[in-house]
Amino acid sequence: MDSSAAERHWVGWHRRYDLPGSSLSRRLALVQRRLREALDEQPAGEIRVLSMCAGQGRDILGVLPDHARRGDVRARPVELDPDLAADAERAARAAGLDGVEVVRVPIARAPCVDSPELLTFGA
Ligand SMILES: C[S@@+](CC[C@H](N)C(=O)[O-])C[C@H]1O[C@@H](n2cnc3c(N)ncnc32)[C@H](O)[C@@H]1O
Repeated sequence: MDSSAAERHWVGWHRRYDLPGSSLSRRLALVQRRLREALDEQPAGEIRVLSMCAGQGRDILGVLPDHARRGDVRARPVELDPDLAADAERAARAAGLDGVEVVRVPIARAPCVDSPELLTFGA
């Protein structure tokens, strides 16, 4: 698959989130629940989150807006596809999540997030 075909593939893959009851949307609900629980358990202070191959960032961006620890979270969703990264960026800004920085590079070149407390990986 060349890089533009890969981008089209992943954009299409994300459309299944919009199908009610799809396995992908059920999986997302589960991931979000676990993420919420993990945030609940973190000690006071900054919480660093690294989300690898983040796509539209639906996991962390679906949890933070109404989570009590939102102000403590510094999250870096890392996503290669420019359209999906832009979706994540828009969602973060729309929710006023100033601690979220979308990183648009291949994961292997992502700036090392110094010892993140939480990792998400939804590939
Ligand atoms: C299966 S999707 C998962 C997306 C998201 N984590 C989720 O669960 O909704 C995999 C994602 O990884 C991205 N990706 C693939 N190779 C990548 C790489 N080398 N670096 C960063 N992201 C990559 C794709 O663009 C795609 O959005």
